[in-house]
Amino acid sequence: MKETRTEKPQAGVENGLFEQIINDPQIQAFLALADEHLGVIGYTEHGARHGSRVAKWAGSILHDLGHSSEECSLARIAGYLHDIGNFICRENHGQTGATLLYPLLCKYPMTERQLGLVLSAVGNHEEQYGQVYNSICAAVMIGDKSDVHRSRVRDYDPSRNDIHDDVNYAVTRSQLLVDPNVHEIKLELQIDNNIASVMDYFEIFMERMVMCRNASQFLGCSFRISCNGTSIG
Ligand SMILES: [Fe+2]
Ligand SMILES: [Fe+2]
Repeated sequence: MKETRTEKPQAGVENGLFEQIINDPQIQAFLALADEHLGVIGYTEHGARHGSRVAKWAGSILHDLGHSSEECSLARIAGYLHDIGNFICRENHGQTGATLLYPLLCKYPMTERQLGLVLSAVGNHEEQYGQVYNSICAAVMIGDKSDVHRSRVRDYDPSRNDIHDDVNYAVTRSQLLVDPNVHEIKLELQIDNNIASVMDYFEIFMERMVMCRNASQFLGCSFRISCNGTSIG
């Protein structure tokens, strides 16, 4: 007999669902393994700290722009889960993660549409192939690509001359600000110029910043960057 999932009330998404999902033992185990595996191949932190930051920012962006609480909740869920596919393989981890998450999330009270929105945001968050299909995608992209900070660097060693570590470690503060009155999303960075320069930042993160601009435009906003108190874009 063909099984169909019951369309659960929308209220479930807004009523503690995020907390249920982030405390799911399977999800916790896969996210921890993703972070562990990326550490092995020399990537920055991609664990609970990164997921929590992206979740917070993705939800806040939509909240501040007046989107529904349902969309804010879905953005938080997708933001927390977006990098889970990394435990299987770094390449195409967005699509891998989305495919993996479908059975994991089916047990939660989400409609097929809500589930699909989360999966689309996970599947499109990387700059190599990501498309802005909807507001959830846009918010997760901006949150993810804006998370540059020294706390993401594992065992920083300047003698390695790893530009990704240098740039991340140089960023002592990163903050996303949304001004709905002027339709602007701004990434404020504090960069220690003794460790890396703004040019270094753009050398490795230009594609990410373009993705943030496109995602912001989808949300009806411009995307601005300020560094050490000066607007640079
Ligand atoms: Fe990713
Ligand atoms: Fe990420």
